[in-house]
Parts: sequence; structure tokens; C-alpha cells
Amino acid sequence: MLRAMRTPMNARGGFRVGAAIALVLLLAAAPAGADEFEDTLARVDKALQTNPKRVPLHLLESCQSRRNGAIRLYDLGQTTRALRRLDFCKKLLGISDEPTKAVPSASEQAKALGEAEREARHRAAREVEQALGLEPDLANGLRIYRDCAQCHGAEGWGLSNGSVPQIAGQHRTVVVKQLADIRAGNRDNPLMAPYATVESMGGAQGVADVAGYIDTLEISIDSDKGKGKDLALGKKLYEERCVSCHGATGEGDGVRFMPRIHSQHYRYLVRQLEWIRDGKRRNGNAEMVASVKDFGERETRAVADYVSRLEPPIELQAPPGWSNPDFAD
Ligand code: HEC
Ligand code: HEC
Repeated sequence: MLRAMRTPMNARGGFRVGAAIALVLLLAAAPAGADEFEDTLARVDKALQTNPKRVPLHLLESCQSRRNGAIRLYDLGQTTRALRRLDFCKKLLGISDEPTKAVPSASEQAKALGEAEREARHRAAREVEQALGLEPDLANGLRIYRDCAQCHGAEGWGLSNGSVPQIAGQHRTVVVKQLADIRAGNRDNPLMAPYATVESMGGAQGVADVAGYIDTLEISIDSDKGKGKDLALGKKLYEERCVSCHGATGEGDGVRFMPRIHSQHYRYLVRQLEWIRDGKRRNGNAEMVASVKDFGERETRAVADYVSRLEPPIELQAPPGWSNPDFAD
């Protein structure tokens, strides 16, 4: 993401001395702008991950596309215009003009990133351990869940377009791990991040409470499905590559932190499989990454379609017409 500094040096032979001097002056000036650009870009990227001002999705997407445009300009040597292109993101995400500190070199940055990731994994692991040792207080879990319901719905069924996953009935351990990962910056989720902070839902106890509450919600089998045309391939792939961890009916395994994936929305499944394959979901399980590494679009869609049609045992399914009584007014 962070680009190494480039020298806009495409010397064509035969220019006059005056032009050469102007070029030298320009080059001398370039690094300062470049530092500022690298610094601003780093702060924009950080804010895009944590979304401190709770900005809605369409605005985050506009910022993302301007950020990408800024990098293109920067790569063309147009540093000033590139910086201007970041102004929208700075305003949107509340980024000040103060540079943070001297910009580290590319190798220092890579090292710092590696350390930050290790630290994030440790932090998440500590919080998981802590939260799982606590007794969930379901009344407090419901209180916290009222915020979550804005997106995941009162029943925890998410949205059938796959933008928000069904989380009802998910294993407590899995919810705890996902929340801890999001809080530690080990899984990006800019929409949700501001709702999952310690300030908004409390520390490890809050995580334990809301995970305990989500575990009690009835699961909807009325999820988004694929086209149903390639289910034989989906079944074959699932049985060869997924069953050992996610179980015969997609029930997962709470003890081993394996998520339930049955009756999950098809389009969410496709997206997660692609993200896990491509390393975009940083907390992806390494062995799982290996099992989907060679998937093309056909395999991904086939297995996602098959999984979206797997169902939880009848006693975990929401009865027809069920709605969450805790939300009845
Ligand atoms: C602003 C919308 C929003 C709010 C509020 C929100 N979420 Fe989410 N949540 C999402 C989205 C979107 C995803 C999926 C992100 C992705 O695609 O990676 C998600 C993913 C999750 C996941 C991971 C699911 C999985 O299958 O891996 C869990 C667990 C979760 N949310 C729990 C919560 C809890 C608990 C709260 C309340 C404290 C909450 N969410 C509040 C939007 C939201
Ligand atoms: C070695 C065990 C393993 C194998 C094999 C495996 N997975 Fe996973 N999978 C996991 C774990 C663990 C996670 C949770 C990773 C995390 O913590 O974010 C996961 C996450 C997922 C998710 C995201 C769930 C969510 O709620 O966001 C999907 C979807 C998924 N796996 C589908 C599959 C499919 C389909 C296959 C077979 C092609 C497969 N997995 C193979 C262990 C495995």
C-alpha cells in the first residue's frame, strides 16, 4: 500500500542548461512533498481501517477511490495534485494537517508493519483468552446488541444481499475471536469498527456478554442462495476440502474456533472466500487459505452456493414467523 518514493527522473538528452537548473530545483523540492504525501496517505489508510468518525459506506468508498487516484497521480510525479486529491478523505475522516513524525524508510515501514501485525495478533489472543474466561451477562449482552442490531438486525440474520452476515447462533468462541480481531486491527471492518470499541461496548466482559447473547439467537435458514446450477461440484469440493474443519453440515466447532457457515448468505460467503484466498482477511486460518488457494470463480461460487443451502439442526432453526421477543415493543 505504501509506495516507495520515486524519483521523477526521466532525463531526455539535449535539454538546455536553464531547463536543467529548473529540473534540479524541482527535484530538490520533490522529497519534501513526497514525505508529506506518504505521511498523509498512511494516516488516511489508518483512518479508513478504523473509521473514527463513523462515516457511512458510500462516503468511505468515495474516499477509497480518491485515495487510489492520488496514488496514480503520485506515481506520475504529480505530488501536489496527489496531495490535493487526499483533501476529501482528510475532511471526511477528521485528519489534521499536522504531520505525525518523520517518515520512516521503506524497510523501516515494512518492519513496523510486521511488528504491528504481530502485536495485533497478540493483543487479540489476549482478549480472546480473557473474554472466554468470563461468565456472560446476557442482560448486558442484549443492551450492547441493540447497537449491533442496526446492521445485523434484531434477529441477527444480516442482509440477504450479503453486505452484512447472519451472526445468529454463531459459536461464542467465534464471535469473541472476530470481535477481538476487529478491535485489535487484525480484521478490517471499517463500518463496524466504531461500534466494537472498548468505549462503545466495554472491555473483555462486554465482548463475552454480547457473544453470549448472539449465541442464543435462532438461526434463519431463509438466507441468500446462489443459482443452484453447480451444486454437485460444490458438494464435492466441500466434502474434500472443508468438512474436516466446518463439519458435515457446516456447523463448525466452537471448541476449535471453527465458524458455523451453514445458511450463511451466499454473496457474503463468496466475498469471504475471495478475501481469505487473497489474504485480504488478515485473520484467515492459514490451512483454510491453502484449501481455497487454487479456487477460480466457478469453484468459489459452487462451494458458496452449496454451503448457503446447508442447514443447522432443527432445534437451532428459527420457527416460521419468529421474531426476537427482546425487541418487541
Ligand atoms: C454499521 C454496521 C454494523 C454494526 C453496527 C455492527 N456490525 Fe458486525 N458486521 C458488519 C459487517 C458489514 C460485517 C461483515 C464485514 C466483512 O464483510 O468482513 C460484520 C461482521 C461481524 C462479525 C463477523 C461475522 C463472521 O461471520 O465472521 C461479527 C461477529 C459481528 N459483525 C458482530 C457484531 C457485533 C457484536 C456488533 C455490535 C457490537 C456489530 N457486529 C455491529 C456490520 C456491522
Ligand atoms: C483447517 C481448517 C479449515 C478448513 C480446511 C477450511 N476452513 Fe474455513 N475457516 C476456518 C477457520 C478457523 C475460520 C475462521 C478464521 C478466522 O478466525 O477469521 C474459517 C472461516 C471461514 C469462512 C468465513 C466465515 C465467516 O463467518 O466469516 C468461510 C466462509 C469459510 N471458512 C468457508 C470454508 C470453505 C468453503 C472451505 C473449503 C473450501 C473451508 N472454509 C476450509 C477453518 C477452515
